Amino acid sequence: MGEEPEYIKLVKDTEIFRNCKNIVIGKGSPNANIMFVGEAPGRNEDEQGLPFVGAAGKNLDNLLAKVGLSIDDVYIANILKCRPPENRNPLPEEIRAHTPWLIEQIKEIKPKVICSLGNYSTKFFFADGNVDEMDKMPGITQVHGKVKIMDFHGLKIKLIPLFHPAAIIYNRNLIGLWEKDMEIVKLEIQQKKLF
Ligand code: URA
Repeated sequence: MGEEPEYIKLVKDTEIFRNCKNIVIGKGSPNANIMFVGEAPGRNEDEQGLPFVGAAGKNLDNLLAKVGLSIDDVYIANILKCRPPENRNPLPEEIRAHTPWLIEQIKEIKPKVICSLGNYSTKFFFADGNVDEMDKMPGITQVHGKVKIMDFHGLKIKLIPLFHPAAIIYNRNLIGLWEKDMEIVKLEIQQKKLF
């Protein structure tokens, strides 16, 4: 067996790894053109070792279905691979340690479109993966549904920020906006030639 890659070692070196039940890597198709990146696993995700299997996951499934997408068309991952205690917000050092693995996944899957779900994920991409710059980036309310063409670690992607599917549970007013944003996602992925 070869040596464990550095990006896995980095995750295993964090406190949240020692306190979680499962590392939540991702789910969906490794050939997907579109990737969804959430924030961090919650209780259900930690139990099952899969992202978006709880209430927020149900919302995501429904919204994907509305635009004709299923889990086989997409890949879903998170900024953090382990559940933070009590679902608290990710800490900068955790984002720094866990995102090299996410970047590895993005390089392997080579999606054309990345939908960032919520503030942390959106700011991470806007800051081009530079965690120290995340605070200065615009929040999701400002940029949701706006397509941003960018170069991310040598990969040309279209970033489409979306509200976090958990936010919809607490704020039902966001449903209309989410649906509108998903129409934009649909239009983008229907284009035969994405670039
Ligand atoms: N929220 C997230 O951001 N990710 C999950 O996997 C589940 C809930």
